[in-house]
Amino acid sequence: MATATVVIEEITALEILDSRGNPTVRVRVLASDGSEGVASVPSGASTGKREALELRDGDAKRYGGKGVLRAVANVTGEIAAHLNGRPVQDQAGLDAALIAVDGTPDKSRLGANAVLGVSLAAARCGAASARLPLYRYLGGVAGTLPVPMLNVLNGGKHAANNLDLQEFMLVPAGFDTFRDGLRAATEIYHTLAGVLRRRGLATGVGDEGGFAPDLENHAEALDLLVEAIGAAGYRPGEQVFLALDPASSEFYREGRYHLRAEGTKSAAEMVEMYAGWLERYPIILIEDGLAEEDWDGWVTLTASLGRKAQLVGDDIFVTNAGLLAEGIARGVGNAILIKPNQIGTLSETLRTMSVAEAAGYRTVVSHRSGETEDSLIADLAAGTGAGQIKTGAPCRSERVCKYNRLLELEAEGLVYAGKAAFGL
Ligand code: PGA
Ligand code: ZN
Repeated sequence: MATATVVIEEITALEILDSRGNPTVRVRVLASDGSEGVASVPSGASTGKREALELRDGDAKRYGGKGVLRAVANVTGEIAAHLNGRPVQDQAGLDAALIAVDGTPDKSRLGANAVLGVSLAAARCGAASARLPLYRYLGGVAGTLPVPMLNVLNGGKHAANNLDLQEFMLVPAGFDTFRDGLRAATEIYHTLAGVLRRRGLATGVGDEGGFAPDLENHAEALDLLVEAIGAAGYRPGEQVFLALDPASSEFYREGRYHLRAEGTKSAAEMVEMYAGWLERYPIILIEDGLAEEDWDGWVTLTASLGRKAQLVGDDIFVTNAGLLAEGIARGVGNAILIKPNQIGTLSETLRTMSVAEAAGYRTVVSHRSGETEDSLIADLAAGTGAGQIKTGAPCRSERVCKYNRLLELEAEGLVYAGKAAFGL
């Protein structure tokens, strides 16, 4: 006997806090079979200009204008009215309805925070209703555990120190299991704290849990990481690699890159600086090495260094399939950062990932600097076999909850991507 289609019965939403103490949206979707799904929306600081737009109240009396009560009201009002009664397991249909109801290309009318919250909570509810683990519901395949990229030194907009480059990451790709890779990176993180302390450098942390000391220049940050890897008993360039996210759109003005320690540089001089670092350090990935407006610079960067490292587009692609397709056609980068809240629905996120995959671009699933205790991106990375995830230092629970979820998935039998994710 055919069972009745499970439909959405109720959608509620709540204004909660993210890891920076700013309001964000949490959504709960309830289905006719009693299944429910809850999801919380993250928020970036070094955002790309063409990201979907989060709706903020602008009422200066509450949270300095950052309240999200209008987004919450859009979820429980207009969005719920359009989605109630629809099949909860039809994610593509739900997302298409969300896009249509909002009616803007950047989700600015109802708010990308409202739209994404519903899209993700519906996916969790759909998975519960289908009695599938979330990673399998999202990916539909056996699943792979991504290589974590742990941001252990923070700068740029994520810290108050003097580093212009935003992220210095440990990439423990050279291990057979996720847990051994995570353990190595975590031991190195603790060793790094000792290295900093002995030099009288600060060990307070930035927004993503990495240390945020003032340093002489950016090469010193790389030296400290290589020293910490060795001092923790691991082999740099064999077991543990480095990755950078300069987030260079933040220091790009009038066609030039303004670095306090290294001076003002053209795109070509930036590429030269990176090329020098690739020779001296075990760097296997550079994200946003050049700015989102600097498409010509990106073409040069990719032609020069694309065979030596993953060149990941974050601000320049903003998880947008159209921008990615343009980048693929022009030879911009060879990998893409995947942040669901940059585009606003799960289905669009998955579509961008398949455009990347079809072109041989690697995908890196990512958190935002403002996060919550929601670990959905861990399931997204594992389910889609993305190969890589970046979700901060092994410190602060909004970062660690994603790594802990991946440990659970490993205990369920998923296999680690390891060096293969980097073609090593
Ligand atoms: P954001 O930073 O979340 O502040 O944008 C993360 C990144 O640039 O990758
Ligand atoms: Zn980035």
